[in-house]
Amino acid sequence: MILSLGIETSCDECSASFVSYDDHSLKVLGLATYTQLEEHRPYGGVVPEIASRNHLEQLPIVLEEACRQAGVAFADADVISVTNRPGLVGALLVGLSSAKALAYSLNRPLIPVHHLEGHLVSPWLDAGQDLMGIEFPAIVLLASGGHTQLHCVSGQPVTWDKNIIEESFLGSSRDDAAGEAFDKSAKLMGLPYPGGIELDRRARGGNGKSFIFPRPMLHSKTHEFSFSGLKTAVSLKVSELKQAQLLESRLSDLAASVEAAIVDVLISKLEFAIEEKGAQSVIVVGGVSANTLLRERAAHELSVPLIIPKLRYCTDNAAMIAAIGALRHSKGESLKDFYSINAYSQASA
Ligand code: KG4
Ligand code: ZN
Repeated sequence: MILSLGIETSCDECSASFVSYDDHSLKVLGLATYTQLEEHRPYGGVVPEIASRNHLEQLPIVLEEACRQAGVAFADADVISVTNRPGLVGALLVGLSSAKALAYSLNRPLIPVHHLEGHLVSPWLDAGQDLMGIEFPAIVLLASGGHTQLHCVSGQPVTWDKNIIEESFLGSSRDDAAGEAFDKSAKLMGLPYPGGIELDRRARGGNGKSFIFPRPMLHSKTHEFSFSGLKTAVSLKVSELKQAQLLESRLSDLAASVEAAIVDVLISKLEFAIEEKGAQSVIVVGGVSANTLLRERAAHELSVPLIIPKLRYCTDNAAMIAAIGALRHSKGESLKDFYSINAYSQASA
């Protein structure tokens, strides 16, 4: 059994987790996350400097809490893993420096983890042996606040090499990410930050066919996405409804219609990729995989089985980072000479 301690501070979630890896099973023993909602809400979005300073305060607290939940001490960890890209550099550096200090003082290997690879493995968290039988290749939709990408993976996480994100890449959004499209539309509608979750909540009571919003590149035979034009259309509709004093009463219909447009694009791109690659299964990950409509439609409309994380592992968390660390360590990829590891804002060099 390998016990991995993971740290995630790439954006506005400060998270620490202990994950065990044994017999192909990744078990979350402790997961503590502080989400910086109150800190960023007054600004309507994440303020990088505030995020870094808050990580400094919260990281020791979430680390202690993860130990408490797992019933272990730091020294019980066989390996320390930490997100080092992509993200806000100041925020990443807080996690990375702490991880280096822990690895140095405990004399443990340190594994730098690509945040998007963490999302990729998130469906396997607490899945036991359930996903052992899934068939590959699998198309992956990775939809978060900063990225919307399609990948094609050919095997179980234990077979992934450290360049899996680059090697499996098919295409991405040309402009906004899906999460960004949710967040910006929500902001235009006057919904509180963080917009995606709030828009999802409002959409439940609405009719998604009430307003027709653009669905760019819906049928284009490429793996690229676009959400351009959506913000402008939402902004115009919000002004129109405001003028008619109908914004409040139509808010749920508006939310459902925006959600329908974004999810239509995601589903249609998945259909194309599944067909083109002859995929045997589909994996949907990233914060947007928490969306109610996307979860429903991906489960019922696609021609192959859906693999999707449990709700608590959809948005940023350190368990997915610890999981990658455990898998790498199990393959002997651990790094003892970690002093030169740096943090990077970009997904790739
Ligand atoms: O993966 P994540 O937690 O952070 C990044 O790596 O970016 O994704 C956050 C994104 C945000 O844009 C958030 O609004 C969106 O995921 N999100 C949702 C829902 N929950 C989170 N979007 C739509 N519906 C949701 N239920
Ligand atoms: Zn993320």
